[in-house]
Amino acid sequence: MVTILKGVSLEVKRGETLGLVGPSGSGKSSLLMLLGGLERATSGTVRALGQDLSAMNEDGLARFRRGNMGVVFQSFHLIPTMTAQENVALALELAGQGDALERAAAELEAVGLGHRLGHYPSQMSGGEQQRVALARAWAPRPAILLADEPTGNLDSTTGARIMDLLFGLRDQGATLVMVTHSPELAERCDRVLRLADGRIVA
Ligand SMILES: Nc1ncnc2c1ncn2[C@@H]1O[C@H](COP(=O)(O)OP(=O)(O)OP(=O)(O)O)[C@@H](O)[C@H]1O
Ligand SMILES: [Mg+2]
Repeated sequence: MVTILKGVSLEVKRGETLGLVGPSGSGKSSLLMLLGGLERATSGTVRALGQDLSAMNEDGLARFRRGNMGVVFQSFHLIPTMTAQENVALALELAGQGDALERAAAELEAVGLGHRLGHYPSQMSGGEQQRVALARAWAPRPAILLADEPTGNLDSTTGARIMDLLFGLRDQGATLVMVTHSPELAERCDRVLRLADGRIVA
């Protein structure tokens, strides 16, 4: 067995923007997955919005995420058989929100992908897929957004635009936890934690 995270204790305040930085393999994605209830810790608890995620079963977790949490994975995890618009619309439908296709189009427009609505993930570049993943995660306006390297595949102009959108969500009251290698992004966070070898070092 490999121990990935060791004695990590962390509290994120409602409405806070937290950056997670650290070298490759230090455990940033693993920590994000724990926070989202997408991986389970071998010991310890994860609580969010007053609820104990570590005590929920898979169905409970899925329901909790659907209503409260958006996640942007490092490798996007878009549904390959759905277009960009359908990927985003599905998240809105799962969150029980109406006008899904129309709103999905507007969200994709906002990330500069208005001309890619009908494209499948395999027909899009990494940076385009990443923006679809972002639009999908925040379209339902979750209270909590977890994003793994949200600007990692973007050029500086597109990255700056996405950053503005992210911090716009913060200004609307969302709690943001973002893994990043970007000094510009980290600098705009309320707080930055540095991981090294599975521990919080700063
Ligand atoms: N499913 C797994 N099984 C075994 N080891 C894993 C698994 N997932 C991650 N690891 C290991 O855990 C450590 C932390 O991985 P993690 O993906 O959290 O790093 P990271 O900080 O996100 O790195 P990067 O910046 O490269 O994305 C690494 O040593 C990795 O090899
Ligand atoms: Mg990672």
